[in-house]
Formats: sequence, C-alpha cells, structure tokens
Amino acid sequence: MIVEATEENIRKAAEILKRGGLVAFPTETVYGLGAHAFIPKAVARIFEVKKRPLSDPLIVHIQSIDELKLLVRRIDERAKKLAKAFWPGPLTMVLPKSERVPEIVTAGLDTVAVRMPSHPVARRLIKEAGPIAAPSANPFSRVSPTKAEHVEEYFGDKINLIIDGGKCEVGVESTIIDLSEKRPVILRLGGVPVEDIEKVIGRVEIRTLTEKPKAPGQLKKHYSPKTPLKIVYGEVKPPKGVKAGLLAFKEPKQGFEVVEVLSPSGDLREAAANLYEALHRLDKAGVDVIIAEAVPEVGLGKAIMDRLRRAQG
Ligand code: TXA
Ligand code: MG
Repeated sequence: MIVEATEENIRKAAEILKRGGLVAFPTETVYGLGAHAFIPKAVARIFEVKKRPLSDPLIVHIQSIDELKLLVRRIDERAKKLAKAFWPGPLTMVLPKSERVPEIVTAGLDTVAVRMPSHPVARRLIKEAGPIAAPSANPFSRVSPTKAEHVEEYFGDKINLIIDGGKCEVGVESTIIDLSEKRPVILRLGGVPVEDIEKVIGRVEIRTLTEKPKAPGQLKKHYSPKTPLKIVYGEVKPPKGVKAGLLAFKEPKQGFEVVEVLSPSGDLREAAANLYEALHRLDKAGVDVIIAEAVPEVGLGKAIMDRLRRAQG
C-alpha cells in the first residue's frame, strides 16, 4: 500500500519496522526496501521478497554518527573525512563491523556497508525506528525504483507499506567505497563521482567489475530491464526489422517506436536522475530491443555508463 509521507504515516512505518515488518521508503538515490537492522528475522524477509541470494550483503542506513559508532569497530581518518564531505548523501562506506550487526545483514562478512541518506523522509524514519537495513526495492538484478509506483508494481502487497516521497533526486544508487583495508577501493560507481572522492582522500582504486564480486552490484548482468538493451557509441540509427525503443542522451532521433530523452540540456546529473524511470517506461513499451546512446564518461556519466553496460549484460 502506498501512503503519503506525512508525520503520522512515517511514525506508523517506524512502528511496522520495530515490529519486524518491511517498509519501502524514499532516499535521494533510489527507493529502499527496509527492515530493522537489528531484527534478523525481518532482514531475512527482505531476501525472500527480493529473491536475493543470502550471500549478497545489505547496506545499513543511519542518520547520526552515534549510530555509525554502534555498527563499526573503528572509524579511521579517511572515513571521517568522507563522512564530513558527503554525508548525508549518496556515499556508502564499507567498514569493519561490530558485534551488534547481525550476520544476515552482512552475509557473514567481517565488514558492514553503512550510508547516511539525505532524503528528509528517510532521515525521519531512521530517527524513529533506528538503523534500517535496506537494499534497493526491486527484485534481484532488476532496474531500481525511483518512484513509489515502481515499488508497488514490483511488490504490491508482499510488503507492509510503501512511503511515497516523490521521484528520487539522484536517481542512481550510492557510490560504494571499501575502507576496510589499507587502500580504499570503489566497489560501485554511483551518486558521488569518483573525481569528488579523490579530492578528499586522494587516489582510489576502482574495482567494479570482477569475476568474484565483493558486491553483487559488481555482477556483469545487473540493473537489467527485461527487454534486451544495446549500447551504441557512435551515430544512432534504428535497427531494421525490429521494434526498437531509444534511450537518448540529449536529442530524440527518428525511426524508433518510443524515445526517452535523459537530459535535453545534456546535464549528466539530470540524466542520472531520469535513467531508471526511462528504463522502466521503455521496458513496458513492448519493444524488441532498447537502443541506449552512450553518454560522456565523466562525473555521473561514469555511473550511468556502468549501469547501461550491466543492463546490456
Ligand atoms: O543508493 C543505495 O545505495 C540504495 C539505497 C536504498 O540506499 N541501496 C542499494 O542497496 O543500492 P543494494 O542492496 O541494492 O546494493 C548494495 C550493494 C550490493 O551490491 C552489496 O553487495 C554491497 O552493497 N555491499 C553491502 N555490504 C557490503 C560489504 N560488507 N562489502 C562489500 N559490499 C557490500
Ligand atoms: Mg540493488
């Protein structure tokens, strides 16, 4: 059930979480499917509903540094600097976990992924309920939801409540950085551009596509629409003999059944914010193939191209 993000509904949602239920809620990146991080049985339901392998750990969402102290064994200088620069916001840090974090949240790993979202509804909800373990609110390997309606279509009554907070502003998931070892490693490109992170802590290694992934967001096929997707790097032309939809960066092109333009002004932030919604619509348009125009790989363009490559598989 979708409800408006009123004070009363947020309080109701917090009660549901504290009793072990599941609540989908808005964040600035994508909608999350939340369970109370300290109730293992509730967290288990997330895996069930999403059909997510238990080997795929979840991000714990917090709203204060005190909560971070509960969840991790140490907060080093790099983590402090990054938290100061990007929290609340679309950055997730992987740090050595404390005893307090249930094994099911971290899939048995010795580390925990933590993020402090900036969305006011998410912040209010966490404040009422406590730390919330939440993956994106989509079935495993599908396109993440950027609107409450997307969550409703995916899960309907399988979850207790969906809080509507409008369209997500950032539109792609958080950037994940692993700080559990000596050298910081980016595990997923996302809402905070790598260039910005390097300005704060210096050079970082990017390890987002691996055979043995540390984060399943690193799987080659992920974030996928059902319709096959093909990236075109040069001039875009409609393919012959098939119904094609176009995911264009700046300008629409002739000869396609449907066209989605990500940002008429060519702004990569706007393009990222519109990406998943456009993919949801194209996936429902009944075309045989989605042709995706490549975008420049700078700033948020890196995260966009990362998601398109994984959608292509
Ligand atoms: O923007 C976001 O991060 C959204 C919103 C809801 O906060 N959440 C999100 O969660 O994208 P999810 O579960 O779809 O992606 C979390 C990623 C997964 O690829 C998971 O493997 C990785 O984080 N992850 C979680 N804990 C980890 C850990 N301890 N070490 C390495 N990777 C971890
Ligand atoms: Mg996800």
